[in-house]
Amino acid sequence: MENFKQTVDRIRDLKKQRQAIILAHNYQLPEIQDIADFVGDSLGLSQQAAKTDAKVIVFCGVDFMAETAALLSPDKKVLLPAPDAGCPLAETITAEDLRAKKREHPKAAVVCYINSSAAVKAESDICCTSSNALRVVESLHQEEILFVPDANLGQWVASQTSKKIILWDGCCITHHRVNTEDVKRVRHLHPDGLLLVHPECRPEVAALADFVGSTAGILKFAQQSKAKKFIIGTEMGILHRIQQENPDKTFYLLSPGLVCPNMKRTASLAMVEAVLRDMSNQVTVPDEIRGRALAAVERMLSVS
Ligand code: 13P
Repeated sequence: MENFKQTVDRIRDLKKQRQAIILAHNYQLPEIQDIADFVGDSLGLSQQAAKTDAKVIVFCGVDFMAETAALLSPDKKVLLPAPDAGCPLAETITAEDLRAKKREHPKAAVVCYINSSAAVKAESDICCTSSNALRVVESLHQEEILFVPDANLGQWVASQTSKKIILWDGCCITHHRVNTEDVKRVRHLHPDGLLLVHPECRPEVAALADFVGSTAGILKFAQQSKAKKFIIGTEMGILHRIQQENPDKTFYLLSPGLVCPNMKRTASLAMVEAVLRDMSNQVTVPDEIRGRALAAVERMLSVS
């Protein structure tokens, strides 16, 4: 316990010394969330990265998130405590793949989910997150949309718009693992629980949900709802904050498989301390793609 407190104190001192801010995604471990200056979804984290006047951003999340922060804050040092924290969904598409797909659909506007590399963002007209995907698609004048790389999120958007959505065959393995049998089983155990799921889940799972939204959307729904029991269909890291914010409500995970190993690579406060102390694991974006990738992210932020 003493060790833990000492680590927390050292991180606080280092943060002051470096003029640093700690941003953490809703899926991070409880102790990481508790030390962060801001905990949120992908959109909230990008907005924080864009507006902070800190000199250093410690990004507790996965690589594309830190890369987006580096795009938005080129004059700041963005440090990723777990440099091997990738995103298998983002890795389903390369810039070259996207260029080839664009040639097949020359009239389509390209919307890329924020879970993508900066190189893919640079090939896209606009970026989106799960909290603004529909709004982003509706903001475009084109009737044909090439939506990459998450096919589940793309189908969820397609179910709510008259535009033609062309999908890329990518998915988040953690969310895609959940199926309708899980829903049946948990609904049977907790028939009075409301089912809240992330749009990265399969469309047939989303169709059974009482609410579909980003991690911030799920947190907001749980807080505003009068219901007392909820079944949560997104990564288990969200349980920490959702339980903290709603001590009188009960939350069940839709499936024990809802664990993202990449989000858990930020495995200890010691890793956060190490990057702050050594100023290591800096994430940068190559100059040749920076301008175009940033434009796609900034367009998204102006629509949000
Ligand atoms: P949110 O933007 O909803 O937090 O989603 C992030 C993510 O990567 C989901 O797997």
